[in-house]
Amino acid sequence: MKTFIKSDYKEACKIAADIIVNKVKNNPSAILGLATGSTPIGIYANMVQAYKRKEISFAKVRTVNLDEYVGLGESDNQSYVSFMRRNLFDHIDVDLRNTYLPNGKSQNLEVECERYNELLQSMRQDIQLLGIGSNGHIAFNEPNTPFTSCTHVVNLTQNTIKDNARFFPCAADVPTQALTMGLSNIMNAKEIVIVVTGSNKAQAAYDAFKGSISESCPASILQQHPSVTLIMDNDAARLFSLRTVLHKHQ
Ligand code: F6R
Repeated sequence: MKTFIKSDYKEACKIAADIIVNKVKNNPSAILGLATGSTPIGIYANMVQAYKRKEISFAKVRTVNLDEYVGLGESDNQSYVSFMRRNLFDHIDVDLRNTYLPNGKSQNLEVECERYNELLQSMRQDIQLLGIGSNGHIAFNEPNTPFTSCTHVVNLTQNTIKDNARFFPCAADVPTQALTMGLSNIMNAKEIVIVVTGSNKAQAAYDAFKGSISESCPASILQQHPSVTLIMDNDAARLFSLRTVLHKHQ
């Protein structure tokens, strides 16, 4: 695992965006696994800038997203499909027909999980971007999700509902279920970039990357992936000892 510790969120975003931009430069038809939440916002802003500077084209790229809230769709501001449009897709030349998310409005969630899972089998991510929940979740794989899981419906934990309430008028408006890629779908990516910033993530980062590999901390599965880049800011890395850091990059 390559580890970078940057001074702040902005610097962490720059390096994550550089990794993704370089991936697309080297492979214009790359399959990008994308994430939502507050962490990727600065990363996507840097990717949009690279596109506007004409350094890169996303015209041939295909994308798959990690997750979507059950019950929310394109017309809902808080849906992840609308987040992706607002923060990335509407500002670059990606073909929207090549962008995929689970459909939170599906009338049959089990069938939708099967459909998304099959899609993922035909679209192995060249690179998967991840954030981490303060409880160690990746995508919406909450603690104690089996490492063998594939796309499934999840009941969000109270911790996640509380954390995500900041995006909604109030906590009662946060959907209680989501559709999420499973941990095996994430591990299938050829390469993973995980960005962890802020002191509220320090314990999760420590448990995930310095603790034992355990389903109680879903992100700890990443210790078993052959190609992970972990990008933290100083606040998130405060429980890491400098001796254990492989690369320090200021
Ligand atoms: C989002 C996702 C989640 C977030 C995590 C951190 O697609 O899958 O795992 O990455 O909840 O969210 P933020 O970045 O808002 O702290």
